[in-house]
Amino acid sequence: MTGEFTGMAVVVTGGGSGIGLVTARLLAARGAAVACLDLDPSGVAAPLLGVRCDVTDAASVTEAVTDAASRLGGLDVLVNNAGIGARGTVEANPDDQWHRVFDVNVVGIVRVTRAALPHLRRSAHAAIVNIGSIAASTGLPDRALYGATKGAVQALTLAMAADHVGEGIRVNCVNPGTVDTPWVRRLIDAAADPAAELAALRARQPTGRLVAADEVAAAVAYLAGPSAGATTGTVLAVDGGMHSLRLRAAAAT
Ligand code: NAI
Repeated sequence: MTGEFTGMAVVVTGGGSGIGLVTARLLAARGAAVACLDLDPSGVAAPLLGVRCDVTDAASVTEAVTDAASRLGGLDVLVNNAGIGARGTVEANPDDQWHRVFDVNVVGIVRVTRAALPHLRRSAHAAIVNIGSIAASTGLPDRALYGATKGAVQALTLAMAADHVGEGIRVNCVNPGTVDTPWVRRLIDAAADPAAELAALRARQPTGRLVAADEVAAAVAYLAGPSAGATTGTVLAVDGGMHSLRLRAAAAT
């Protein structure tokens, strides 16, 4: 797979950290020219291109996508990864927070995709990969707002796949479980008992460990690459079996 992306140009939103940055590095290692669009691109090093972008601001998005496409020589792959979290039941989060998290996690995808489509239409291998979450497919406590945004990402993926299949643009989604990224480390560190929080998150996944960002990146790379040319409108879980397996308790026979 080393050179699968040779000659291809990729934009990764939220590419300044975590899953986005690891994905950008993997695609670059496989031959792509990659731009990381982020509120804070300071952690993005060559050969990756860091471009400042706020996915909630249409003007910022248009400018960043146009800049990236012109510096990369076009655009073949868009990874819509930028996202923020929210904790709480439906009673916990005020309306402005609901609007804010939807604006980043859902409308952000809409804005970036809208700006990218004219470029993607000129590609022979156009693909979009959206980053959803286990929270789209499984009810998690205290994740009403976050889960609602990720359910929307999954539904949006399928609608976009239907709309653009006729023009050769594939659209798929990756739903990660709990991934060991700076975001999750911040949540663990903020817990009353960080060691117990980490143990609980590990135990929630049948594999007994957190997902590695590399494992999410590998799934994104598969869906984004020409070898997945017949795959569109799919949701690929990378969650240690969390949404689909129900194990027996160890003591049960
Ligand atoms: P992270 O916090 O390490 O990285 C997210 C990046 O998005 C940051 O660099 C941040 O600056 C950027 N960003 C945030 N708001 C932005 C905006 N308005 N415009 C542009 N960039 C913005 O987080 P992580 O863990 O890498 O998450 C990436 C994606 O994966 C998110 O969509 C998240 O919902 C999803 N995800 C993460 C999981 C996890 O366990 N870490 C599990 C399931 C899904």
